[in-house]
Amino acid sequence: MSSGPRSRSKSAADFLPSSHSLKALRKAAAACQGCELYRRATQTIFGEGPASARLMLIGETPGNQEDLAGHPFVGAAGNLLDEALAAVGIDRKSTYVTNVVKHFKWNPRGRLRLHGKPTASEIAACRPWLEAELDAVSPEIIVCLGATAAQALLGKNFRVTRQHGEVLSGLDGERIVATYHPAAVLRAPDDRRAAMRAEFVKDLQTVSDWLGKTKVRRAAK
Ligand code: URA
Ligand code: SF4
Repeated sequence: MSSGPRSRSKSAADFLPSSHSLKALRKAAAACQGCELYRRATQTIFGEGPASARLMLIGETPGNQEDLAGHPFVGAAGNLLDEALAAVGIDRKSTYVTNVVKHFKWNPRGRLRLHGKPTASEIAACRPWLEAELDAVSPEIIVCLGATAAQALLGKNFRVTRQHGEVLSGLDGERIVATYHPAAVLRAPDDRRAAMRAEFVKDLQTVSDWLGKTKVRRAAK
């Protein structure tokens, strides 16, 4: 089945282009068959935003609406993300928005396409795209939306419930803040939803404050 070299497990690495510009990456990712998820999905949903973005936001996987539209975070979770960013004075267009896994994973239930959680091996297979995006954009600060993104960047033991909103340091000097996934806020039980949403906005406020402070410090030089 696989046309990849030897019996090494397939991954996105087999599809990486020689140029790592966002344009070249996006084009190559459109043809990725690094795991089985491309088979059922409509298209690759690559990250979007300027290479100069100071802030990168990382979700889990595109959902049904993203799969159809061809863009990340355009459904209900994306709307909440947009509202929260606007509330803290961050222009989404100035950010780079992507997902850990670039194809919509779903299982049929009747005529519905139910969102499926990516496995560890699918996350690992797709990782070269995320690494290449991180290299190309080199963000000053990264927001991990939910546990999948947080654990991809901060390790398996990271717990969003305990450490959301903390400004942590990544390996290359970048800052990393984990927060709830907006879809988790929307799914929260009625008695929890407003509080979770407030915490989500507060975490993004921390990021906005950090960006503001850093700019001031740089400008002062
Ligand atoms: N949820 C995600 O994690 N990413 C999207 O792009 C949409 C919903
Ligand atoms: Fe490639 Fe990632 Fe899609 Fe798998 S999910 S086919 S690794 S782009």
